[in-house]
Amino acid sequence: MKPSVKMGVIALIGICVVFYQYHLSTGVTFDQVTTFNTDNSADDTEVLPIDDEGDNYSKVSRLTENMIRYAVYRVQIANGLSPEISSLLVQELINQLSKNVSVTSRNNSKLPQTSPTTVHKATSQSRQSPPPDSEEHVEPLYIITPTYRRPEQIPELTRMAHTLMLVKNVHWLVIEDATVPTKQVTNLLTRTGLKFDHLIAPMPEKYKLKKGAKPRGVSNRNRGLQWIRANATKGVFYFADDDNTYDIELFNEIRKTQTVSMFPVGLCTKFGLSSPILKNGKFTGFYDGWIAGRKFPVDMAGFAVSVKFLQQRPNASMPFRAGYEEDGFLKSLAPFEPRDVQLLADNCTKVLAWHTQTKKNEPSAPLDMKLYGTTNLVKLKQQIV
Ligand SMILES: *[C@@H]1O[C@H](CO)[C@@H](O)[C@H](O)[C@H]1NC(C)=O
Ligand SMILES: *[C@@H]1O[C@H](CO)[C@@H](O)[C@H](O)[C@H]1NC(C)=O
Ligand SMILES: *[C@@H]1O[C@H](CO)[C@@H](O)[C@H](O)[C@H]1NC(C)=O
Ligand SMILES: *[C@@H]1O[C@H](CO)[C@@H](O)[C@H](O)[C@H]1NC(C)=O
Ligand SMILES: *[C@@H]1O[C@H](CO)[C@@H](O)[C@H](O)[C@H]1NC(C)=O
Ligand SMILES: *[C@@H]1O[C@H](CO)[C@@H](O)[C@H](O)[C@H]1NC(C)=O
Repeated sequence: MKPSVKMGVIALIGICVVFYQYHLSTGVTFDQVTTFNTDNSADDTEVLPIDDEGDNYSKVSRLTENMIRYAVYRVQIANGLSPEISSLLVQELINQLSKNVSVTSRNNSKLPQTSPTTVHKATSQSRQSPPPDSEEHVEPLYIITPTYRRPEQIPELTRMAHTLMLVKNVHWLVIEDATVPTKQVTNLLTRTGLKFDHLIAPMPEKYKLKKGAKPRGVSNRNRGLQWIRANATKGVFYFADDDNTYDIELFNEIRKTQTVSMFPVGLCTKFGLSSPILKNGKFTGFYDGWIAGRKFPVDMAGFAVSVKFLQQRPNASMPFRAGYEEDGFLKSLAPFEPRDVQLLADNCTKVLAWHTQTKKNEPSAPLDMKLYGTTNLVKLKQQIV
């Protein structure tokens, strides 16, 4: 090797070290560089679209590749490095980088759905989580969500879907108070990649005609119970309304349910809270703004039940009695007493579920088809109530 070539190689290695350390110091991992690059060049046909990258990120991004080529080229010009050695160096650096990139992204992508977009999402936020194949080893979580057609329906379900997409092995039972399933809901559920069943369970006419508070969501939840009786043998189920807010940690907690578990619910009302009360680590009663002679004065979002426990109680169901739905259902789980409740969320010291509510809105006015009948607004309006 001529001295000038030697110098060139040393300088190149120096550049590569600096380049690598720059990435370390800025906390940018190579798969993030890949993702970032791909995101920014969606309309650049030169760059590989994300779908073509496969699910192991085996290719280093164009950006990184170009940087390597440019660095080698600079050294080649400045120090007379031979073209053969230059291209070997480029190839070797790219190979090494892509190996590490694919190892890193395999470790980070834990979600079971292997669609490219899912892997993309999973790799860009490296959460510390169990190994990727743990999905099969956790028991299913059945989320029973009653819903009905209204302006807030699709946005609420979108938010909730995004929460559930972060949870392992969930099966979402979305049950509409309707005589036909809403097409927009089906489309949304399909796009989430979640396991789901989209069911319907209209409220019986006699309750619809009743004056005052109606037992909303009861026929939906009973339909969910019916589904579980027919299709589930293990795991846990939870009644999760679409307008509430759920901390990700809640789902890990309720997996611990052996019989019936309870935990605090933050209420966006004057009372602020619904929770079991503990004194010296022992259950002593319930705190809730509305006791009303209920044996179990709890919020719908404040308990979970094991599937096995339900299967042993074939008659358990929710009564059509506004305000007494939770109480009636929990009583129907007899033999079961408040003292038997399994207390979660660190002895009920953490709020992991929030009873939120969105403001009710009027449906939007119909579109003026004379003015807009041939525009994009027609398609948009089909997505709005
Ligand atoms: C993933 O990487 C392996 C080698 O590590 C390679 O053989 C395979 O083709 C890659 N898959 C895709 C989809 O890029
Ligand atoms: C790639 O990974 C190997 C071991 O897995 C490590 O020794 C090497 O330093 C890594 N290189 C880069 C550029 O990250
Ligand atoms: C990937 O995970 C395995 C085992 O979980 C670990 O041994 C390895 O060091 C990890 N590699 C990287 C690049 O994080
Ligand atoms: C059981 O699950 C299947 C498949 O999802 C569904 O078609 C069926 O309606 C369910 N049974 C009940 C009683 O809901
Ligand atoms: C809950 O309280 C019991 C009894 O005081 C105690 O033994 C246990 O460690 C507590 N658990 C947590 C998670 O705080
Ligand atoms: C369920 O209800 C039926 C009819 O009401 C009754 O005959 C049966 O004994 C009940 N089963 C249990 C386990 O309570």
